Amino acid sequence: MGLRVGLVGVGPVGDMIIRVLKERKFPIVGEIIVMATNERIEVLGGERFHVRKIRADLFKELDLVFFAGKEGAQGASVQWGKIAVDNGCIVIDNGGDFRMHPDHPLVIPEVNMDAVTKETRHICNPNCSTIQMVVALAPLHRAARLHRIVVSTYQAVSGHGGSAMKELLKESQQVIDSESPQYDSKIFTHPIAFDCIPHIDKFLTNGYTKEEMKMINETRKILNEPNLLINPTTVRVPVLVGHSESINAEFAGDMDAVKASTILSDMNQSPGVVVIDGLTKDAEGITVRKDPLERQYPVTRDLNSNEYKDAVLVGRIRNDTTRKNAIDLWCVSDNLRKGAATNAVQIAESMLQRGLL
Ligand SMILES: NC(=O)c1ccc[n+]([C@@H]2O[C@H](COP(=O)([O-])OP(=O)(O)OC[C@H]3O[C@@H](n4cnc5c(N)ncnc54)[C@H](OP(=O)(O)O)[C@@H]3O)[C@@H](O)[C@H]2O)c1
Repeated sequence: MGLRVGLVGVGPVGDMIIRVLKERKFPIVGEIIVMATNERIEVLGGERFHVRKIRADLFKELDLVFFAGKEGAQGASVQWGKIAVDNGCIVIDNGGDFRMHPDHPLVIPEVNMDAVTKETRHICNPNCSTIQMVVALAPLHRAARLHRIVVSTYQAVSGHGGSAMKELLKESQQVIDSESPQYDSKIFTHPIAFDCIPHIDKFLTNGYTKEEMKMINETRKILNEPNLLINPTTVRVPVLVGHSESINAEFAGDMDAVKASTILSDMNQSPGVVVIDGLTKDAEGITVRKDPLERQYPVTRDLNSNEYKDAVLVGRIRNDTTRKNAIDLWCVSDNLRKGAATNAVQIAESMLQRGLL
């Protein structure tokens, strides 16, 4: 038995959804119906697909549709999300248009799968930078209740779509060739080659960007903690794929680096997290650091391995020496996989397991 599956949008996220569905052997009947604004042939996940121009009757043939289209009024979810649902589909939506709507659950399967019920038809995938932060912090929150988060992100250009990846490569080559980068200001406000830009999405009147407000509002919604204090700075860096985050987290209850390391190293308590921090277990099974001077930590390159590609990698776990019950950590995850496609497919898998699909 399988489901009739569709995909809207064939940028890097759509491409990755096809790959992840195949890798995880998601039960599909027939061929995946792929839609975008224009009809054409595209290679997605290494396979040729007939991309159809999106239209309402295509949704009638489907049980489940992954949306990976552009956001906003002309975007895929606003224009087609309700039509898909009205035609009998369950929608899992990567875009940001409905994430904060009270009728749409915003879901990370390891954290709040119970938000999806048998009435749910349109589920939202959180923003990539929110997903990895919440996967890393939710187990600690369950143990000692988060009070405040200060986070700085180092976000890959693929978070802005396929055009931004080409832009980074083009500009980098220009710099290598001793030319000044001819940058496209519609993609980034400054050249991104060999530089960092503390500006992701639009600025708001409070001085934060929309990306930063997403991290605040989405985290509060997923953890069901409307008053949680969160102070983000989001930065675009010249990396193709893989976001990194430096996180300072303060807790209401007891928390320190050893306790955090023990919890995060336990896959039952911390599903989806892998600690890369030079830690080991002693004879009694307690998490200890063999050599305090020999630290390990994850980098985005680690995401290329099969073992780590869908994980949230955590390292640099240490006490914040300026505050009680506060720790610092570094976390790395693939924005196209766990930050988008893998999370979306995991939602569908969990719905199947729970008889919701
Ligand atoms: N990239 C990431 O790391 C990341 C992470 C989490 C979430 N997201 C979200 O995931 C979505 C996809 O991201 P992406 O980076 O893959 O995007 P992208 O490269 O900009 O690709 C967007 C795709 O959506 C299609 N599309 C746009 N408007 C449409 C409409 N009205 N109807 C049907 N199709 C439409 C486009 O069709 P054409 O090709 O025909 O123009 C294109 O194939 C975005 O909402 C993004 O915010 C991205």
